[in-house]
Amino acid sequence: MASRSIFNKPFDEGTLSKLEIFENYFREWLPVFVSPQKVYWENIQIFDFFSGAGRDCNNVQGSPLIILKVINEYASFINSKKLKVRIVLNELNVDYHAALLKNIQEFELVANVNVEIFNLPFALVFENEFSKMANSANFLFLDQNGIKEITSDVFKRITSLKTTDFLFFISSSFFKRFSDTPEFSSYFPFTRDEIVNTDFYHIHRKVLGYYKSLIPVDKAYYLAPFSIKKIKNIYGLIFGTNHTFGIEKFLNVAWKLDKLRGEANYDIDNEKISTNAPFLFEELSKPTKRQLFEDNFEKLIINGTLKSNTEAYSFALNEGFQLKDANQVLRKLIKSKKISLNSSLINEKLHKCLSENIVVL
Ligand SMILES: C[S@@+](CC[C@H](N)C(=O)[O-])C[C@H]1O[C@@H](n2cnc3c(N)ncnc32)[C@H](O)[C@@H]1O
Repeated sequence: MASRSIFNKPFDEGTLSKLEIFENYFREWLPVFVSPQKVYWENIQIFDFFSGAGRDCNNVQGSPLIILKVINEYASFINSKKLKVRIVLNELNVDYHAALLKNIQEFELVANVNVEIFNLPFALVFENEFSKMANSANFLFLDQNGIKEITSDVFKRITSLKTTDFLFFISSSFFKRFSDTPEFSSYFPFTRDEIVNTDFYHIHRKVLGYYKSLIPVDKAYYLAPFSIKKIKNIYGLIFGTNHTFGIEKFLNVAWKLDKLRGEANYDIDNEKISTNAPFLFEELSKPTKRQLFEDNFEKLIINGTLKSNTEAYSFALNEGFQLKDANQVLRKLIKSKKISLNSSLINEKLHKCLSENIVVL
C-alpha cells in the first residue's frame, strides 16, 4: 500500500466525526427496515461506493466494517425473517481493494447477508447498480474524495428513488481553492465572486443550497447538512431522504453532536456560546440560527403560509430543526391565543400524524 495511504496512519479527528455520524445514522436506519414484525421490505441493499481499505493503522474500523458490525447486531431479525440483505462495497485503488477483501474475509459475519466487493470506478458501479435499486430499501454512503463524483445527474437519479436514504461527503473547501478553474464550473454553477464572498465557515451551507436547487419544487424531499472542520479545511456531509422519518432520525444524530445548531462539529456561526457556561441573559445564549428559525416559523404560521400542523412540522424539518423545536413556537402561539389547534403536539413520527388545519385567531 502506498506510504501516503490514509489507512496507514490513524484516522484524523474529522474522519472520526464523519464515521461517528455515519455509524449513528446507519444504526437508526437499519432497524426501521429489519425489525418490524411484519416484513414490509424483503429486499434491503446497502451501498458503500468508496469503501477504502476497511481500517486505519490502529485497527479503527472504517465504513465497510462499521456496516458489517451493525448488521451483525441485527442478525437475529435478518436471519429469522429470511430477509434478502445485499451489501455492495467498492474501492478503486487496487491496494486498498486487496486490503478490503482481506478485512472483510476476516470479519466474523453472523447475519445471512450477501456481500459483494468491487474494484471499479464509482460511475461504473453506480450505473450497474442503479436499476437494481428500484425495488428495494436502499442506504447509500458516498464517501468520495473531493467533489467530483456526485454530479448533478447522479444526485437527481438518487433523489428520484423511493425508500432510499443517502449520506455523501464533500470537500467544501475545494470550492475556495478551485472555484476559478474551468473544471470547477463544469460541476457547480457558482461564480468566483459568490465563493469569495461566502464565509469560509458557511461554505457547506452554500453547497447544500445548490443541491436543494436540484430538487423539483413540488417534490417532498429532505436534505440536511453537517459541516466538519479538519485542521484548516471544511468538509461536509449531506444527508437526503424522501421520508420524514429519515430526516427526523438524521436530525436526532446531528443535534446530539451539535447541541446548539445541529449542523457542525465547530462553532459554525462563530458566536462563542458555551452550553456549559451560558451567558447570563437567555437571549445571548440563543444561537442566531435558532432565533431566525423561530421568528420566521411564527411569521409563516400567523400569515397563513403554513396552514396545518403537518405543513408546519415539515417546514421545521426542512430547516434542520426537530419537531420539539417547532413545538416550542406552537406552544407559545397557543398560550398567547394567537392560534388554536385541537390535536396534541407530537415529538416524532410525523408520518403517523393526522393533518389538522391551524386556526389563526
Ligand atoms: C475517503 S476514502 C473512503 C474511506 C472509507 N469510506 C472509510 O470510512 O474508511 C475515499 C476512497 O475512495 C476511493 N476512490 C477514489 N476515487 C474513486 C472512484 N472514482 N471510484 C471508487 N473509489 C474511489 C479512494 O481510493 C479512497 O479509498
